[in-house]
Amino acid sequence: MGKILSTTVAEKMQDRVVVDASTDDVAVPQSDELVREIKRMLTEQDAVLVAHYYTAPELQDLADETGGTVSDSLEMARFGHEHPAKTVVVAGVRFMGETAKILNPEKRVLMPDLEATCSLDLGCPIDEFTQFCEAHPDRTVVVYANTSAAVKARADWVVTSSIGADIIRHLAERGEKILWAPDKYLGDYIQKTTGADMVLWNGACIVHEEFKAEVLQGLRAKYPEAAVLVHPESPAGVIEQADVVGSTTALIKAAQTLDAETFIVATDKGIFHKMQQAAPSKKFLEAPTAGVGATCESCAHCRWMAMNDLQKLYNTLEHDGNEIFIDESIRQRAMIPIKRLLDFARERDAQVLGQGDA
Ligand code: 13P
Ligand code: SF4
Repeated sequence: MGKILSTTVAEKMQDRVVVDASTDDVAVPQSDELVREIKRMLTEQDAVLVAHYYTAPELQDLADETGGTVSDSLEMARFGHEHPAKTVVVAGVRFMGETAKILNPEKRVLMPDLEATCSLDLGCPIDEFTQFCEAHPDRTVVVYANTSAAVKARADWVVTSSIGADIIRHLAERGEKILWAPDKYLGDYIQKTTGADMVLWNGACIVHEEFKAEVLQGLRAKYPEAAVLVHPESPAGVIEQADVVGSTTALIKAAQTLDAETFIVATDKGIFHKMQQAAPSKKFLEAPTAGVGATCESCAHCRWMAMNDLQKLYNTLEHDGNEIFIDESIRQRAMIPIKRLLDFARERDAQVLGQGDA
């Protein structure tokens, strides 16, 4: 089991140095028997486990060991769609399970806890969102994947953090004006990066919103050699200090490929498990979520991601419970913008591959 070293950086604040992936904060007790039983049921039920990087280390390890995946939300959608298993078990939050079901109506989609939601999804109810769209009928509606099936069904495009800027740039080049929802920080970042004409919904991730720009400056002054990795759901003042801004997968790749030996990381601390596996010799510091005169509530860990654990996963498989169902007319409409996302991603990846060959 890993440990967290602490040193003083500013009044009332500690730098949290993640020495080992399996931080005490994130892990739940390992149970060999539960793991054995879950593996048996995954095989017997022709099920594949698709986990997000913010879930507990033992769930991530289980996904890896059983031929599933641990990934960002785009890759989770892609993997679940392309995998031949009859059942997809999604360890993550509700919108990830719903996306899997929207894309795979013939498959059984299960989640360890159906109550695991997301502040962005909660902050964008369909009725208000519909009014917002009706107030801007001339705009192309682009929504972040962190939304309900009903909101997706009202959208022209669904995007994730790994591809949002590319899609908006593409739409802006076609002369389209954008209505964006729900994450105002990601929307603002994409607007600045692409120069697109965008109106933004006023939503935020309660985890990333807590990263503090001023205290981050103090930490950078103390570790001037450190590279700063930031998820774009963070506030602009934090993004401005980043060496790399990107999806969870992009941040892990950056930790692996950049020359730096020390990294300050502004995203959910669940990511340190994979980050430390990807770059075992490197040192990772949590970006501050509190500091002088401020406290944190989420403290860099998503309470909904934390609702996933081995026992609930076991119960779900054992009792055939927690299945995702979506109204068929909503599902069919929501599938259109998600398919656009996957098609765009496929073409983009083919182009990148082609450029590599040239
Ligand atoms: P990624 O798609 O980058 O994994 O982000 C999902 C998410 O919910 C981040 O808070
Ligand atoms: Fe939603 Fe934030 Fe949790 Fe991601 S970390 S699932 S955006 S609340």
